Amino acid sequence: MTLSESPEPPSDDLRALWRAALEWQIELGADEAIGEIAIDRTSLPSKAPPVALGRKRKPVPPPAAPKADPVADARALAAKADNVATLREALKAYDGSPLKKGARNTVFADGNPKADLMIVGEAPGRDEDRQGLPFVGRSGQLLDRMLAAIGRDRKAEAPGESAYITNVVFYRPLENRTPTDQEVAPLLPFTLRHIALVKPKAILCVGNVPSKHLMGATTGITRFRGAWADLEVEGVKVPALASFHPAYLLRSPDQKRLAWRDLLELEARLAQS
Ligand code: URA
Repeated sequence: MTLSESPEPPSDDLRALWRAALEWQIELGADEAIGEIAIDRTSLPSKAPPVALGRKRKPVPPPAAPKADPVADARALAAKADNVATLREALKAYDGSPLKKGARNTVFADGNPKADLMIVGEAPGRDEDRQGLPFVGRSGQLLDRMLAAIGRDRKAEAPGESAYITNVVFYRPLENRTPTDQEVAPLLPFTLRHIALVKPKAILCVGNVPSKHLMGATTGITRFRGAWADLEVEGVKVPALASFHPAYLLRSPDQKRLAWRDLLELEARLAQS
């Protein structure tokens, strides 16, 4: 109720009471009359409505980072190469292999790219990493002797007397461990393009890793060796034979007999084509 609404004038006592209350508030520091109507602050909403500071804007999401796809990148890079030399350069420019950081060199290939026989191994070892060439350590020396046994030399000029040598992984895995599927995957497009460009008459896959990734082997090399598969890469058809890795033959010389059988089959297939 306001003063003006009062039905009868306030008594002197009431006035004195109001005055005393007013003086008390002035003493406490009140210097402004706020309004005639009392506000029941206990019934106000507990949270004040948000204060609009300028025009409301829709939050802008941060730009989405492009999804990394190292295999697609490798495919695109490899596809642009139209000869072995440009493929080597494309591989050197590619940074999608996690093994690259730990390696001294990109170990691409050795031998005669015109050879009708292509040998595909696993990954470089310490000697290969140092020299930047595949199969130059102890297992490479055994491979050279195996090739010599079927009349081939990686350095020979004639396609039918030489060999072209590469690996499915071009960087040395630390401690010479077997490369994982995830390490092979981003490099495989380069190997496939390599095969399509070289167009060998036959491929010899030595060991588990190339047999699995190029020929689709689902068992270990001890069971799979001696198997042939018809590879088709970018329309190029090439028969591939699986055999033991020379490093394994160094550890298990009694298996050389079976490796020799594979080499003779390979020689016979090359002579036919
Ligand atoms: N083992 C391989 O598989 N490749 C090499 O180049 C050397 C050893």
